[in-house]
Amino acid sequence: MATIASLHKALVCILLLLFLPFLSLSEDYLPINPRLEKAYVALQAWKHAITADPKNLTLDWCGPHDLGLLSDLALLHLNSNRFHGGLPSLKYLDIRFNRFRGEVPLRVFDLRLDALFLNDNQFAFSLPDSIGNSSLSVLVVADNRISGCFPRSITDMADTLNELILLNASITSCIPEDIGKLKNLTVFDVSFNNLVGPLPDSIGEMRKLEQLNVAHNNLSGDVPESICELPRLKNFTSSYNYFCGEPERCLKLRTRDDRENCIPERPHQRSEEQCIAFSSKPVHCDANGCMAPPPPPAHY
Ligand SMILES: *[C@@H]1O[C@H](CO)[C@@H](O)[C@H](O)[C@H]1NC(C)=O
Ligand SMILES: *[C@@H]1O[C@H](CO)[C@@H](O)[C@H](O)[C@H]1NC(C)=O
Ligand SMILES: *[C@@H]1O[C@H](CO)[C@@H](O)[C@H](O)[C@H]1NC(C)=O
Ligand SMILES: *[C@@H]1O[C@H](CO)[C@@H](O)[C@H](O)[C@H]1NC(C)=O
Ligand SMILES: *[C@@H]1O[C@H](CO)[C@@H](O)[C@H](O)[C@H]1NC(C)=O
Ligand SMILES: *[C@@H]1O[C@H](CO)[C@@H](O)[C@H](O)[C@H]1NC(C)=O
Repeated sequence: MATIASLHKALVCILLLLFLPFLSLSEDYLPINPRLEKAYVALQAWKHAITADPKNLTLDWCGPHDLGLLSDLALLHLNSNRFHGGLPSLKYLDIRFNRFRGEVPLRVFDLRLDALFLNDNQFAFSLPDSIGNSSLSVLVVADNRISGCFPRSITDMADTLNELILLNASITSCIPEDIGKLKNLTVFDVSFNNLVGPLPDSIGEMRKLEQLNVAHNNLSGDVPESICELPRLKNFTSSYNYFCGEPERCLKLRTRDDRENCIPERPHQRSEEQCIAFSSKPVHCDANGCMAPPPPPAHY
């Protein structure tokens, strides 16, 4: 079965990446890093979730099984979206919770992967332009030190990308105006970065969007009405920015959080001093040579 074979290839790759660090550190395979151990246990759980394996490729994986150990935000989404209905033709690379440093090997983005989890490492890198050539449907790059531009070529992944989680990755730039090209996104989370400038109107073109989280950045301007009109939007978190306007329509969303902005008449906003101090400084989308700044809508 082709899917099993490719799955197996991906798994060998995962296992190599997972165990390389501790193979070289421990001859008798003692899991010295508790996070690696968790990842190992989780892989075992995945093995048990595979219901069809005619070539017995998973026969020599042994160990306990406890899927609970892998329970984090991203996997919960994955569970609900991608694991329904038997064996997925999923190619899944998970190198979370390790201590990898430096650059992510560019080859990673050439693999025909479906899901890539790079979170909770110490990667210091900018996502390469070649990311646009990848076939990922899920990209999770949280808690790394990416520091740099919002990866422009990410919009080239429009055909495959469903979930984009660039959370706490030290990204410093504006959100590209054409981000709305990612029309198949259901989850878009860029919270806890240093993003500046407006929230692009084009996000209102992501008709499948369900979860939008842009909290804890330095975004400003008005929240575009088109976003709050998205038919499937369930949860919009815009707190801890410097937005200064929000259409009435946004208040009708089922779950939303707009605290600590500069929106007149809304409760729990920043102080006037903070808002004025912030708006007196110009916005630099090009801070890292990222892109030319779109003119930020001036208010106040
Ligand atoms: C897989 O394992 C089962 C049970 O252990 C065995 O009956 C079957 O022949 C094996 N298949 C292959 C292709 O090795
Ligand atoms: C993307 O793939 C195309 C075709 O394979 C290639 O020509 C191009 O150089 C690739 N782009 C990057 C940034 O790797
Ligand atoms: C962000 O990631 C760093 C590690 O790169 C971590 O120490 C920090 O606690 C994270 N912050 C949040 C808000 O999750
Ligand atoms: C989105 O997904 C559909 C299939 O669900 C696909 O046909 C389409 O090309 C994808 N891309 C965009 C940009 O809509
Ligand atoms: C965000 O705004 C705060 C308060 O004005 C400022 O201290 C910080 O440097 C800003 N960060 C960026 C990346 O603009
Ligand atoms: C809404 O999204 C925020 C940020 O991702 C999350 O903390 C919160 O739990 C979500 N609320 C619901 C009801 O899904």
